[in-house]
Amino acid sequence: PKVTYIESNGTEHTVDVAEGENVMRGALYNGIPGIEGECGGACSCATCHVYIAPAWWEKVGAPENEAETELLEGAAAPVKAESRLSCQIEVTSQLDGLVVHMPETQY
Ligand code: FES
Repeated sequence: PKVTYIESNGTEHTVDVAEGENVMRGALYNGIPGIEGECGGACSCATCHVYIAPAWWEKVGAPENEAETELLEGAAAPVKAESRLSCQIEVTSQLDGLVVHMPETQY
């Protein structure tokens, strides 16, 4: 599946991410700046914060676990309605074409 990552300055990166990977690792593997993923995807750092593009929000959905919701509250950048932790989003064929925006900062 393809995922498009848009930096806070508007730079777009569209890459192929393997099914079953998560959106955070997709950015790291491809050297895309704007997502840190400091905890390695353990849902304990909030440095993989992204904003889901509105058109995709329904498919991606809100956080399913409380840990993510709580962590998001501590994210460095402003939390919006479409905020998610990208390590908690699994890339699937249903999400082919997904677009996420990176916040200005992860720290
Ligand atoms: Fe740490 Fe997502 S990588 S919470």
